[in-house]
Amino acid sequence: MSNTLFRTKKVEQSILDTEEPEHALKKSLSALDLTVFGVGVIIGTGIFVLTGKVAKENAGPGVSLAFVAAGVACGLAALCYAEFASTVPVAGSAYTFSYASLGELPAWIIGWDLVLEFALGTAVVAVGWSGYVRSLMDNAGWHLPDSLGGRDGATGFGFDILAAALVLVLTAILVVGVKLSARITTLVVAIKVTVVLIVIIAGAFFIEGDNYKPFIPKAQAVEAGSGIKAPLIQLMFGWAPTNFGVMGIFTAASVVFFAFIGFDVVATAAEETKNPQRDMPRGILGSLLICTTLYVLVSIVVTGMQKYTELSIDAPLADAFKATGHPWYAGVISFGAAVGLTTVCMILLLGQTRVFFAMSRDGLLPRFFSRVHPKFRTPHRPTILLGVVIAILAGFTTLSELAELVNIGTLFAFIVVAVGVVVLRRTRPDLHRAFRTPWVPFVPILSVLATLWLMLNLPAETWLRFAIWMVIGIVVYFLYGRTHSRLGRGPESVADGSQDPPGGAVR
Ligand code: ALA
Repeated sequence: MSNTLFRTKKVEQSILDTEEPEHALKKSLSALDLTVFGVGVIIGTGIFVLTGKVAKENAGPGVSLAFVAAGVACGLAALCYAEFASTVPVAGSAYTFSYASLGELPAWIIGWDLVLEFALGTAVVAVGWSGYVRSLMDNAGWHLPDSLGGRDGATGFGFDILAAALVLVLTAILVVGVKLSARITTLVVAIKVTVVLIVIIAGAFFIEGDNYKPFIPKAQAVEAGSGIKAPLIQLMFGWAPTNFGVMGIFTAASVVFFAFIGFDVVATAAEETKNPQRDMPRGILGSLLICTTLYVLVSIVVTGMQKYTELSIDAPLADAFKATGHPWYAGVISFGAAVGLTTVCMILLLGQTRVFFAMSRDGLLPRFFSRVHPKFRTPHRPTILLGVVIAILAGFTTLSELAELVNIGTLFAFIVVAVGVVVLRRTRPDLHRAFRTPWVPFVPILSVLATLWLMLNLPAETWLRFAIWMVIGIVVYFLYGRTHSRLGRGPESVADGSQDPPGGAVR
């Protein structure tokens, strides 16, 4: 049985599959499109919302160091992602990579894990977006009833109607086609980056040196009994749970890691890239570098503008300007954040449908989902199904715990990719690699260690939820995926697509 669980899909076969007309996506993206795409999804709820919370509760002004720590871990992972994405340029990101290197069961696990990352990530960002839009509406004197403002504000029934509506509209746009989405993305990304630059440049004039003292606040014990909510590492070593101090920076890093999610999503668009071997690494590393620089600067400025204990949790960047007596800037920033979060949501949704599409094309999920739309050439079926599920989820969801669950899922995927780079170098040394991760195996090993460290700094309850999700995934694999796998059905099924009756694309 272990033979079937670890059967790998040949890289050449993965690439060949993308050329079957019924299952082919349009190749239209350039390196610049990918970088814009990356920045479009990376800058979002993480910097606009979570910065305030972690500065206030975990790290103080040292939050900028948390961004550096998370950025370093992501940089190492990006070096591994770039090699994989340029070697196996097909839809599905870490899922496809692990199918080619580690085998079917690990690939299934990672695909299932990515579904969690992208679906919940989309919901988290939609809820963050809705908060900014409601705040803008409030400024204009329009108030939504509390029960339609989401779970956080409501006393009884709460449904976040704006978040759900956003997801449904974006789903419709994605069904119509990537090129349209990429154009919208470019415009929105320009607005978002401008707003971030306004925060950095205008905010620099309002910095008060005293706000940085102390830069790393002393560790404080948190009340006993928080148990399962404490970082796993503190429980493992029996340390008394604390906030702030040096460990607080790492706790903060494991949360603001959410702000970096997205560079891995660039890899999910490999199959739609004109020249993936050259453009993928440029897109992934370029967007990560731009965002890390902006994050560190924003967090330094914001914690300099306002004492960390007074930062707001809902809209820290805008509220820091209000606190220094500049409400006009605050309005512009809220507007830019609301616009910017739209693209984050859209691209996470796109990444999600592409992973689902790739798993279905391989037969691990029903093949019904992998037939592209006859006119738009987009995987409309998973897009619509997942869009509706995520809209419901976004409507009924609160933000913070879900963000941590998304983080652990993504970090886990990073580990698989780093291991996959080393394995594929050994099993397929012959493959052309347009981008090679430097110093293999040291960089992948460092990447695994850094990633694991961030994971261990997440709460124990997040680990528990993640474990439950993965167990469900393994059950689904044994009940469906293993027996329906296209790879498992023999060479003829893989080679000639005989599982697809002619005309399948339009059925
Ligand atoms: N990195 C994205 C964000 O911060 C997911 O919203």
